[in-house]
Amino acid sequence: MSVIEIKGVKKYFTKEVYALKHIDLLINEGEMVSLIGPSGSGKSTLMRHISGLLLADKNSQSSIRVLGKTIQSKGKLDKDIRTSRAQIGHVFQQFNLVNRLSVLTNVMVGGLSRIPSYRSLLGWFTAEEKRLALQALDRVGLKNVALKRACDLSGGQQQRVAIARALMQKANVILADEPIASLDPESSRLVMQTLKDINEKDGITVVVTLHQVDYAQKYCQRAVALQDGAVFFDEQINQLNQHKLNQLYGTQAVHSFSEDTVSSSNGMNMSNGMPYSQDGTANTEEDHSQPRSLIN
Ligand SMILES: Nc1ncnc2c1ncn2[C@@H]1O[C@H](COP(=O)(O)OP(=O)(O)OP(=O)(O)O)[C@@H](O)[C@H]1O
Ligand SMILES: [Mg+2]
Repeated sequence: MSVIEIKGVKKYFTKEVYALKHIDLLINEGEMVSLIGPSGSGKSTLMRHISGLLLADKNSQSSIRVLGKTIQSKGKLDKDIRTSRAQIGHVFQQFNLVNRLSVLTNVMVGGLSRIPSYRSLLGWFTAEEKRLALQALDRVGLKNVALKRACDLSGGQQQRVAIARALMQKANVILADEPIASLDPESSRLVMQTLKDINEKDGITVVVTLHQVDYAQKYCQRAVALQDGAVFFDEQINQLNQHKLNQLYGTQAVHSFSEDTVSSSNGMNMSNGMPYSQDGTANTEEDHSQPRSLIN
């Protein structure tokens, strides 16, 4: 069954400036899909359309449905968008936690659509809500830091708190936009493993945008590649090869890709097959002087 159905989505910001030329895409229940492609290819724009944060062009015959509910159609949000959005969890590169609040409170805020606003404003949560938040933190291996302030955690830990918040929200779909772009390799591994774990054990469908193709190969089953606002290829991960990646990113960008990398999608050592950031540290700094695909 398709949990995300995207049909005919176009997004032109002006007559000449477009992010999405025409997207048709189906994502099935329980899949963990990586959305890859060069900087500016439209990945974040597409993610924001899926959750209704951006509207497709009005004149397109577009529709986006998630878990059988319409998010938007022909450039208009569905009137029941609040309910539909509640099923979609977001994880962003910048974590989006409230720094001065405890980790536990940050996670409880994830259940906001089910908590009356006066209670959340006053910080009144029930014992059951606390139990569920602790359970979610336990799920991502962070129960022991529940009472720390969010800003006292490492980046990787904060990202796992963001995942716990989506669990608290009871999201059935998680959209993660570059969740590991600012993390070191070990934190990246833990965050990706956490996403994979909730995908496999809880059946949550995960769509994750990544600049590091080796992480896509290790943790995802399928790669949807965008180029210039359109789907360039859509493959099972073990079908990826050097040639396709060269075409997607440009020849120089993927010189270190090897066929070994493909076989390592089964969990074997990935260290020789990193087309981007051999040690991962290069991803911690934005460098706008070069195309992102060459540096990440
Ligand atoms: N609000 C906006 N106004 C005008 N153009 C925009 C806007 N948002 C995005 N774009 C353009 O749309 C295109 C796609 O942007 P998007 O952020 O979706 O790319 P991306 O694939 O996520 O890139 P990155 O890998 O750098 O995150 C880019 O050319 C971008 O400049
Ligand atoms: Mg982006």
